[in-house]
Amino acid sequence: MLKLKVNAIIDILMAIFFIIVVINSIVLFVYFPHSQGGYQGGKNSVYLTSFFGLTKIQWTDFHINTGFALIALMALHLLLHLNYYRCIPLFFKSEKNQKRNKA
Ligand code: HEM
Repeated sequence: MLKLKVNAIIDILMAIFFIIVVINSIVLFVYFPHSQGGYQGGKNSVYLTSFFGLTKIQWTDFHINTGFALIALMALHLLLHLNYYRCIPLFFKSEKNQKRNKA
């Protein structure tokens, strides 16, 4: 039961962090494209220096930190399912045997 709860919490956190990473990726991609330098280093009034109160550097930090948190959660998720992955070959083997027995 405890493992079930831990798995559920990790999966929910993973979904939340995935959505956050997707959103800040879109912000970086759409509002702060890599090549964007801006006229005279961003003096043009149209040049975007911040989005939602955060500068490009802050959005990038946010992206990297949430990205690493997502990777850590994915690693935990994989570790907690090691037995499941170990059983995958057995599952395919037993399916093959069942088909052979039916034929
Ligand atoms: C949904 C998955 C992801 C998408 C779509 C995505 C997209 C992006 C985009 C659009 C940029 C900006 C590129 C530019 O400078 O124009 C970027 C930069 C970056 N991303 Fe991601 N990213 C994802 C996941 C991650 C994860 C999991 C990490 C791990 C921490 C990560 C680390 C970085 C780093 C280190 C940069 C460079 C930041 C810099 O300019 O210094 N990303 N990503």
